[in-house]
This record gives sequence, structure tokens and C-alpha cells, in this order.
Amino acid sequence: MAVRLRGIGKSFPGVVANHDVDIEVKSGTVHALVGENGAGKSTLMKILYGVQKPDEGSIEINGDDLVLHSPADAIKQGVGMVFQHFMLADNLTVMENVVLGAEKLYGIGDRARAKIKELSETYGFGLSPDDLVEDLGVGQRQRIEILKVLYRGAKIIILDEPTAVLVPQEVDALFGNLRGLKAEGYTLLFISHKLDEVLAVADDVTVMRRGTTVASVRPADVTARQLAELMVGSELPSPSTEESTVTEDVQLTVENVTLAGSGERNLLDDVSLRIHRGEVLGIAGVEGNGQTELVELVMGMRPATSGRVRLGTEDITEWSTSDRRNAGIGYIPEDRHRHGLLLDFPLWENRILGHQDRAPSVRGPWINKAGARKDSERIVEQYDVRTPSIETTARALSGGNQQKFIVGREMSGDPVLLIASHPTRGVDVGAQAAIWDHIREARRQGLAVLLISADLDELIGLSDQIQVILRGRLVGEFDPDTVTPEQLGSAMTGAGGEE
Ligand SMILES: Nc1ncnc2c1ncn2[C@@H]1O[C@H](COP(=O)(O)OP(=O)(O)OP(=O)(O)O)[C@@H](O)[C@H]1O
Ligand SMILES: [Mg+2]
Repeated sequence: MAVRLRGIGKSFPGVVANHDVDIEVKSGTVHALVGENGAGKSTLMKILYGVQKPDEGSIEINGDDLVLHSPADAIKQGVGMVFQHFMLADNLTVMENVVLGAEKLYGIGDRARAKIKELSETYGFGLSPDDLVEDLGVGQRQRIEILKVLYRGAKIIILDEPTAVLVPQEVDALFGNLRGLKAEGYTLLFISHKLDEVLAVADDVTVMRRGTTVASVRPADVTARQLAELMVGSELPSPSTEESTVTEDVQLTVENVTLAGSGERNLLDDVSLRIHRGEVLGIAGVEGNGQTELVELVMGMRPATSGRVRLGTEDITEWSTSDRRNAGIGYIPEDRHRHGLLLDFPLWENRILGHQDRAPSVRGPWINKAGARKDSERIVEQYDVRTPSIETTARALSGGNQQKFIVGREMSGDPVLLIASHPTRGVDVGAQAAIWDHIREARRQGLAVLLISADLDELIGLSDQIQVILRGRLVGEFDPDTVTPEQLGSAMTGAGGEE
């Protein structure tokens, strides 16, 4: 047995994050951990990696009973962890990132370089030691994080939601890497909300619910739906199909917009699109092809080099971000830690963020604390944000619950246009369905939505129209009723012959 955790308990002020947790992970297997947002998955993995100290329970690694005081202790026992928010220095090379903090192992010269090359080649990572991290895509960055862990000699590797940030092709590549590692005797433990993937790649699955382990199953014995029902402890409602609500009124117009970059290529190149009231326009693309820039442009965070942006009939090209927000643009940012939340402030203060100039955050010239508090209670209730109270800091919420709070805030005050970047990233299947329902309901009321998502099923399921973005240009339009994820996938990589 690689890992045996028994009777693990861990509480934070007002929250029992883990209680009576028992889990066994066999050596040389891929083991998945699933459960609703806030079920206690990340906490449990942080305990195994020595980041959090359990209040009770025992940790056994490779048969030894251990007390872990820090990640350094865990690494000594051969346990490594890849976090969801990568911790790489962009301005350093692959090698510098890998060696940082582990200089004693193979030095900082040729021996280190040789070791990195060897690991990268053995597992087909395709990383060169001297590549600059800032030039690499998400999938490659993730492989650097895995390489860091391998370099430090880990044999048991924990990955917290590794596929949340990846497009389907990269997910396949990651799973290929995981299988390769398993074949070499490594033990892989990963958290995921994508139950199909879990069933495809795991040997064993442990289900957590409300802080404790409730079931341990083998993929062959369950369907994704049954797994989801184990997670929530009841039957899930069936998804229903939706009528089109698209109207004739154009809400957002982007007209021949170009955004120059520092290099030769434009970040956005002659992009034009229109979204009507009651319409969801989905943008599909491999990360880094201009979708971030498109969102930032519509939000007024970047000025267009040329072209116009209109909200309804109003030309907003020169408007500031806060003027745009006040005109009714809701914004679910892709990086919730950087743009969506003040992590060390209570939830109710986060309700005000980005909404400083509008009800219910203001009364006359003053911040309306009572209004913000009351509305935070509403969001917590309506969006099922699991938190002890609205006084809790954003940091103390689980990843999925942070996301639910942001979605609730941005859907507040009846926006006319919602810019949603990966709105359900990191949320569990139940919450995902609930967020879709909220978006559909708003769409029935005439909301226009610009949806960016790496989850192609989500794009196809929610959108009225899908555009593919590649190297800053819109290269193809697809009908969500007929397109398949595979067709989108090839258009996204330029293999679809659309250009
Ligand atoms: N540092 C902390 N301080 C206070 N509460 C915390 C802290 N870390 C986690 N919690 C709470 O413990 C509970 C479990 O959180 P955890 O992050 O383990 O959930 P999770 O299963 O990983 O959820 P998700 O799928 O949303 O990532 C949550 O209620 C969370 O708010
Ligand atoms: Mg988590």
C-alpha cells in the first residue's frame, strides 16, 4: 500500500473540512478523488503533502507511520504535489524553475541539465531545459510542475484538478503521461470534477461527501451518473434541452478590432462579432490564441489598436472598465485569484469588488455595508456557496465555492451583457448544472453572453453560436446543434482546414 490514511480529521474555524477520513491507495495505481465543492478533497491532499496538519488520524506511507511537519517531510517520503495554480516563475527557464530550491540534488549545472533531459525524454514531456516558461502553453507548464516533483524523487504524485485548465488534446497527453508514470511504478493520486475522465483513467475512485470518505469504487462498476449521485448523496435531475431565445436586438458589436502585440503578430487580428439579446456566443480555442485579449478588450482593460466596440447602440470603444461595468456588463474573469477576489477580505467585501459605484454597494456617496452584506447572503443562498458565514475570508473557501460566489456576484443587478471566462472551472457537476441554469434563465430574460470555455461540452451545451479563435483571428463558425467536440478540437488546432 502506497498510502493509508485513517481517521483523519481537520477543522478550521466554523468548518469541519475532514472527519473520519479513511483512504487506501495501492502502489503503482492511478487513484482518483472526487466529491462536491467543499467536500474536503484539497484539504486531505494537503494533509498528505504536509501543508496542513491533521487534528487527528494517522498517515502511513509505504507502510511507515509518519508525522509530516512540512512539505519537505513529505518529499523525503517520496510524496510530491502539483497544485492547481501553477507556481512557476515566468521569466526563468524550465531548468531554473525545476532546480529552484533543489540545488543540492544535482547541482545547478550539467548534472541538473542532464537529469532534466533524461526525465523529460523518458516520459515524453517534450521539454527543453533552456526554454523560457513565459513562452510555453498551459499543458507544457503543467508538465514542468510534474517534472519538478519527479526531479525531487517523488514516487507518489498528487495532482489537484490537473485537467481543469487543459483542452481535450492536452488532457489526452496528460493521461498518456500518467499512464507512462504508472507503468514505471509511480503512484498517482488526482482530484477531478470531470467524471468521464476519472472513469477513463483511474484504477480506483474514492468519493468524498461533506468532509468524509463515503465510497470506494472501481470504474468498471459505476457510470458517471452513479458516481455523481454518490457525490451528492441523492439522485441528480436530468438536464433538459432549451429553446432558442435569440432576439433581433444586437447587444454587443465588435467591429474589425485589431490589437497589436509586441511581436510581429497581432494579438487580435480584424475580429468582428455580434451577440444579440438572449444569445450565447461561445468562443472555442486553445488557450493563448487571443481569447484572454478579446475579453480584456471588451472589458476595457486593453485599448484596441483599431476597430470599434458597441454596447447596444452606444459606442463604448473609449470607455473605462468601470463605466462599462456600470452600463451593465458582468465579468467572470478567468483568473479568480488575480481579478475576481480579494482573498484576505471577507466575502461581503468581495461583493463590492468591481461594483463600487452601484446598488447595493452604495447609498448616495457612501459604501452601503448593510446592502452589500444582505446581498451577499442572497448570493450564498441562491448559488449554494458553502461557507460558515459572509464574514469568512474568500481565501478560506474551497476553489469551487469561490467560483460560485463570483458567478453570483456578476449575475447580480440584471446585467445586459455577461462576459464569462470558464464560468464553471473547478465547480462540481451539481454546481455546474446550477450555474448553467442561472445563465439560461438570464438568457431567457434577454441577457447576451460571451462565453469562453475550455470545456467543449459546456460550449456546445450552452451556446447558440460557436466561433473558433486561432492566432488572434476568428477562423470558423459552427452550429452547436450539429458540431462535435472532435470537429471543434481540430478547428482549434488549425487542422480543420477552416483557415
Ligand atoms: N485554510 C482554510 N481556512 C478555513 N477554511 C478552510 C481552509 N481550507 C479549506 N477550508 C474549508 O474546508 C472545506 C473543505 O475545503 P477543500 O478546499 O478541501 O474542498 P474541496 O473538496 O477541495 O473543494 P473544491 O472542489 O471546491 O476545490 C471548505 O468548507 C473550505 O471552506
Ligand atoms: Mg479543491
